[in-house]
Amino acid sequence: VSKKNSVPQIIARLEGQQQVIGRQGEIEAILHCLLARRHVLLEGPVGVGKTYLVSAIAKELGRPVFRVDGDSRYTEHKLTGWFDPPTVLKKGYGADSFIDGPLVGAMRAGGLLFINELNRMPEGVQNVLLPALDEGRIEIPRLGSLEAKEGFSVVATQNPREFVATSHLSEALLDRFELISLSYQSEEEERTILSALRPLDKAPKEDLVGWTLALIRGTRKSPLFRRGASIRAGLSMVDIATAMGSDWASFEKAALLALPTRVELNEEGLELGAKKAIESLTDEIKKKGTQKNP
Ligand SMILES: Nc1ncnc2c1ncn2[C@@H]1O[C@H](COP(=O)(O)OP(=O)(O)O)[C@@H](O)[C@H]1O
Ligand SMILES: [Mg+2]
Repeated sequence: VSKKNSVPQIIARLEGQQQVIGRQGEIEAILHCLLARRHVLLEGPVGVGKTYLVSAIAKELGRPVFRVDGDSRYTEHKLTGWFDPPTVLKKGYGADSFIDGPLVGAMRAGGLLFINELNRMPEGVQNVLLPALDEGRIEIPRLGSLEAKEGFSVVATQNPREFVATSHLSEALLDRFELISLSYQSEEEERTILSALRPLDKAPKEDLVGWTLALIRGTRKSPLFRRGASIRAGLSMVDIATAMGSDWASFEKAALLALPTRVELNEEGLELGAKKAIESLTDEIKKKGTQKNP
């Protein structure tokens, strides 16, 4: 974020070139935090658009971007950097033999470090971030202390704790982030996302988009589901149903293909089973549809 790259200009490009639908409030908040040289943690359910939003913003910022995806076997050295053994043999330990990891790279370049699913990272990796986040400085054994160049920020995403079997961020780490929560978007915004032209195909049928919206939004309200379907599940359903012919039967088949892996049932739903739980919602949508156009 700079004078040539103002918040409204970036938002306009996100809507235009990057095809981000809605989310103006969240985008503004993220950009203002970055302007204030703070670090941002985006939280929200799986498939709500966290990675999509940060990737789009990163492309438009005009700063170098370093992306890391959280996983439980990630190491501190991978994040900061490591000494290259053959170069160490020739030249010893020093700047020449050190290979920058994404954290050091972003600090040196005054860039953005995007850590996707930070909560999947082991505790050691989370701890390495602490001094970098609040003092813009890290200590690397045998190399010395490294100061971040102006412009360095970290944007991280995490899924809410109740939905993932991964570690929870420490209080110390949370204390260094500003939190922005993403929830499901409005019906109209979701309709726009589902109606967009697909890379391989024509725009999806309006009826199909309507049924899909009713179904994914229905799972979020239904007492049978603990976690409902996201827009990602909706996109999958629309694409599959379009490939199958876009009629009601395709919609029902696509629902059974796309939803079971992307929702969680609660006790009542588990007793019924995923197939019946989903069919109970599609049956309702069918009834409502026939009432409207008898
Ligand atoms: N605001 C949005 N505008 C357009 N597409 C979106 C938007 N939010 C989400 N999507 C679509 O939903 C998909 C899933 O989002 P993603 O960022 O992968 O979810 P998360 O990281 O929260 O699990 C994206 O790939 C994108 O196609
Ligand atoms: Mg993601």
